[in-house]
Parts: sequence; structure tokens; C-alpha cells
Amino acid sequence: MTIEHTLTSEEQLAGLSVDQLKQLVGLVEYDDETDPFPVTGWDAVVWVVGNAAQTAHYYQAAYGMELVAYSGPETGNRDHAAYVLHSGAVRFVITGAVSPDSSLVEHHAQHGDGVVDIALEVPDVDRCIAHAREVGATILEEPHDVSDEHGTIRTAAIATYGETRHTLVDRSRYDGPYLPGYVARTGSYEKRPGAPKRIFQALDHVVGNVELGKMDEWVGFYHRVMGFTNMAEFIGDDIATDYSALMSKVVASGNHRVKFPLNEPAVGKRRSQIDEYLDFYRGPGAQHLALATNDIVAAVDALRAEGVEFLTTPDSYYEDPELRARIGEVRVPIGVLQERGILVDRDEDGYLLQIFTKPIGDRPTVFFELIERHGSLGFGKGNFKALFEAIEREQERRGNV
Ligand SMILES: [Fe+2]
Repeated sequence: MTIEHTLTSEEQLAGLSVDQLKQLVGLVEYDDETDPFPVTGWDAVVWVVGNAAQTAHYYQAAYGMELVAYSGPETGNRDHAAYVLHSGAVRFVITGAVSPDSSLVEHHAQHGDGVVDIALEVPDVDRCIAHAREVGATILEEPHDVSDEHGTIRTAAIATYGETRHTLVDRSRYDGPYLPGYVARTGSYEKRPGAPKRIFQALDHVVGNVELGKMDEWVGFYHRVMGFTNMAEFIGDDIATDYSALMSKVVASGNHRVKFPLNEPAVGKRRSQIDEYLDFYRGPGAQHLALATNDIVAAVDALRAEGVEFLTTPDSYYEDPELRARIGEVRVPIGVLQERGILVDRDEDGYLLQIFTKPIGDRPTVFFELIERHGSLGFGKGNFKALFEAIEREQERRGNV
């Protein structure tokens, strides 16, 4: 039996259809009756940063996101400021300490700017938590209601790798701008004339970096606790370069809306990019977030116009006859991709276009990917080697090899 896809409230607000999401993020049909932990989709990515006011400006000015809600001293939250930003179905919540006694101060001192919570929308918080408890997950917050004049949210939270959590949210009885305690707020930032309405529409995947030898443990966690299944893509040390070895497996929710590739370092001749991340983030955490776009060329041009920096791709990547033969025909000429450093990968289902930014903060930790899917359900395995070589050039410049 297949179940009709349910759109999350964010997807509905963004005017996205199921067909558009199928193309954007590779949705598949599935039966949620046998799923011990049904997940509707992403709810929010919550960041802790050193300066939430300025980071919120950055995401508006550079990434074309829109400010929709706020919590802070003016709304009675004396601990921290939180800015809620949208682009399509993507919701970021940018938090920063206001009180010197806020727990965010210590979190930020340890980890720097990064993702603290990958919140998921679920239809039944209690059912998920009951299952998670039964199989031994760490429950950080028991199911409870939070209400205001917009209605009631049912929520709870479980721990995942490092100091990252998954808050579970049932917002079916709520119509406020984000959560109780937040007020609607728009930004004073105005888009430049000619700027695209949106640079990206949906969140495709969030990659976690975990310690050496822990990847299978976390893959097991997502199987056991959240009923996720493996996707085909597997990166062994066979395709790693000499210097940036990593291992990677991908787990996904039943409908594939939520996809978590998990990386661990593998032993190479030099310290890998995953080791560098683990050192500078002080442990496991979210490495990159892939933002789905239906026009990666326009997205890269818009981001670059605002100063966002991307990893460079060697010209040899585009000139290599083997690669040309492998990728075949894509929707834009290779020269257009080459000018921007956009990578191409193809598998039996189709192809994808992707590009990676440089780390977005001061530490060499979290960064973004832009992804435009055309049938492919992969993650760019064929590009790993080309990507590693580009990352290694950057790592060398920082003196961290
Ligand atoms: Fe990715």
C-alpha cells in the first residue's frame, strides 16, 4: 500500500507541490503504517552562532532568506535572541546568547557557529518517543504541550551525535509564525532589484561527521530508533584520495524527505577533512546542509554576487574525457558549469548538479551544498575525489594537513 504524501506546513506555505518535491529532493512512495517512527519532513535547522543579529542579516542579504519570526529580550526571552528565516520550505532558526549566563555561551565557546538541532515534523510525537525509549535512545525532553494564542504545539527531543539533537514537532494544532514565545517579524532588509525571489526551495540532506569507527553505530541508531533505511550510496576508502579518506553511508526516512549521510574519517596519509572538522568542532556535528534548487546556475550567480565563496573545481575535471563520457548530456552546457565550478554526477536514475561553499564561519567546520536533481537519488559519489582534491588545497592553505 502506498500513502499519499503529506506536505509539511512549511512546504504548503512555500507553495510546493508533491511533484516539485519529487524532483527537488527525490521523494519516494512508502507505507507509513509499518513505520515505528513516522516523519513528515524537516521542521527547522537550529543554529547557535556568536552573533545572531548579524548572522540573520547574512542569510537575508546573501542567501535570499526572509525573516518571519523573532524571540528575544523584547518578547520576554532574556536568555538569547532567535531569528526565524525562511526560503521555500526551509526554516533556519539562528540563536545567539544575550545573557552572559546563557547556556549558549558555553556551547558556542566549544563548537563555534554550528547546528545544534535538526528538528523534524512528525504526526505523533508520543508514538515516536515511546518507540525511541523502548530501543534505548536518550530522551532529552519528554513529550509536552506548549501553547499560546495561535494554538498548541506537541514537542519532545532526542539526542543524536555529539551535542546535536532532534526536536520532534507536531504543529497540526498551531498556526503561529514558529513556536509559542515567538512573534511575527519581518526584516528591514530589502532585496536588490533583479534578485531572484528565492535562491533555494527545500532542504535535501544534512550530513553528520562522527568519530573514527562510529559510523555504523550511528547508522544503527537511525535504523533502530527512527526506522530509517539505508540508501544505496556508500563511500568506502576505495574512492578516497590518499589524503582525505572518509567512509560514508546514507540513511533516509521512509519517504526520503529526510536524508542523513554519515561520515567518519578513514586512515589516510594525512589528516582528513573529517578529522579537521572533529578537531575544530570539538566532536561530532553537522558538516554540511544541502539546499535544493531548481536552477543551480542562477543560485550560484546570486550567491556569488553577494560574496559567498565556493570551492573551486580544477579545469581538468571538465576536460577529462572519461568524466565527459560518464555524465553525458545535462541541461546546461559544460562551459556554463565550468565557469562556476558546478559538479555533475550521473547514476542509473538520472543526474545531479552540485557545488559546495567554503566553511561559512571562522572555524573550518560547517558549509553548504547546492543541489539540483534530475532523477538521480545519489549524493555525488562520483565527485568525491574531485571534491577532496579541492578541499585539500584549501586545507593546505590553512596549514591543517
Ligand atoms: Fe551532500
